[in-house]
This record gives sequence, C-alpha cells and structure tokens, in this order.
Amino acid sequence: MHPSWDVEELADALPRAAAVLRAAERVAVMTGAGVSAESGLATFRGAGGLWEGHRVEDVATPFAFRRDPALVWRFYNLRRANLREARPNPGHDALVKLEERLGPERFTLITQNVDNLHRAAGSRRVLELHGNLTRVRCTGCQRVDDRGTEALDDMPRCSCGALLRPDVVWFHEMLPDGIWEESARAVASCNCFLVAGTSAIVYPAAGLIDTARRVGAKVIEVNLEPTEASGRVDVGLYGASGQVLPRLVELLPHASM
Ligand code: OAD
Repeated sequence: MHPSWDVEELADALPRAAAVLRAAERVAVMTGAGVSAESGLATFRGAGGLWEGHRVEDVATPFAFRRDPALVWRFYNLRRANLREARPNPGHDALVKLEERLGPERFTLITQNVDNLHRAAGSRRVLELHGNLTRVRCTGCQRVDDRGTEALDDMPRCSCGALLRPDVVWFHEMLPDGIWEESARAVASCNCFLVAGTSAIVYPAAGLIDTARRVGAKVIEVNLEPTEASGRVDVGLYGASGQVLPRLVELLPHASM
C-alpha cells in the first residue's frame, strides 16, 4: 500500500472508468492473482502469499527443477490440488460479459494467472503469459498435455520416459512463443487497458502498462489498494475485483457497443 496516495472514491471513479470503456474501440485487459483471490486461491506476495513460505529460487526456476524436481512438483501439485476446489468468481464472469459485449475483434484478455479460471468462466480469447497449471510439458520430447487437476506423483513421467514439468513459466525463462508478441500487439492497438488484481511488479507483463501509455490508451486499474502502477493510470478503482468488475460492466450498455 502507498499510504500517501490520494484515492478517488469508488462511486466517483466507476462512472469515469465506464465512460473510458464506452469510448474505446478496442479494449485489452490484463489480470493477476488478485482476480482469483475471491475464488480461494492465494496471491503471490504479501501476508499468506505463495511466496511467503517458499523462496522463488527453490520452486520457480529452471535451476530449482534441475536440483530437486520432486520438491518443485510437490509445490505445483499442491497448487493443482487447490484448483480442484476453485471456481470462477463474479470478477471472472464480468470479464466474460465484457468480451461478449465487445466481440472478439475488439477484446483481448491477457492473464498472468496459471489457474485456468478465465477459461473455466467462459472467456474465449485468453492469452496466458505465464502458462497454465493444468498442462504438463515433457522435458524430453516437449509434448504438451492437458492433465486437468488429476493427481500426479512427485516425479511424473511422459510416455517417452522423460520427466514431465508443469507447463508454466518460471523466473529466468522466456514467455511462451507468440503469446508475448500477441499480447504486446493487442495492447499497442487498444484504446483502453484494464489492469486488474496485479501488483504490477513482474516484468515484462508490467511493462504492458507503459506500452498502453505510449500509444495513448487510457489505463484503468482495479485492485484492493494502490500499486506500483497507480501513478501511471488514468482511473483507479480500489476494491475487490469480484465486486468492482461486475459493477463496472453493469454500467456499460447491454447491446453491442
Ligand atoms: P501478486 O501476488 O504480486 O499481486 C496480487 C495483487 O492483487 C496485489 O496487488 C493485491 O493487492 C491484489 N489483490 C488481492 N486480492 C484482490 C482482490 N480480491 N481484488 C483485487 N485485487 C486484489 O500477483 P501478480 O501480480 O499476479 O509469476 O504476480 C505477478 C507474477 O508474479 C505471477 O504471475 C507470478 C508471480 O511471481 C510467475 O510465477 C512467473
């Protein structure tokens, strides 16, 4: 939290944000872990966050996986097990509605989340910057498989015999082929960039906010509290995304805009 930040009242900021959205020909949205918090999934940073009990270097880097794959798999298997209980919340649903209202040509959803909840909610055009926990990738033949939330053991193997890994992006790794380029293109051609539930400190994802500003797009932030990005946004909506996003979408016309 940045305590000196002068936060506009939500009731005043919401209609301003809705006006920005209404005026936009193309909208890009980027979500982070906060959007899934109300689905019962822990965020990364802060009290009770996923990184609190783990060092990133022990569980979320290629070096960690080479050193102790079973430890890394135990961490990800726990997270996969959490997905079994998790259901999309009204924030995810509101983004489905926004996509339906705008249509695929005018809407792109970029997510840093690996929890599959946007797809489960019904979002169609989803660019997963950091991969997806429901998929595994073979470290040998590179085959990618969707294993849903089924229980995997601590050293799961591919039919080719090589060790599997979660199909997520670890620190020090490149973002998935093509996904980054498509995300950057969507942001560079949008008029409104809506950023929800992210601390906006992990790059290159956080850099998309600067891309949006460079092309003159308006930036709307939805978060429980001001973040690193708040000084660079046009409208800040501070509250839980599961409440704020439905209220925002409710303010838009129902017919195709
Ligand atoms: P963080 O845990 O860094 O930030 C979550 C943000 O969500 C914080 O700013 C919270 O204030 C906000 N938040 C929490 N609950 C919320 C709610 N109900 N409504 C709205 N906002 C809420 O998560 P990310 O920004 O997603 O990368 O983290 C970015 C990346 O860092 C992750 O994808 C992951 C991580 O290390 C990799 O693993 C590569």
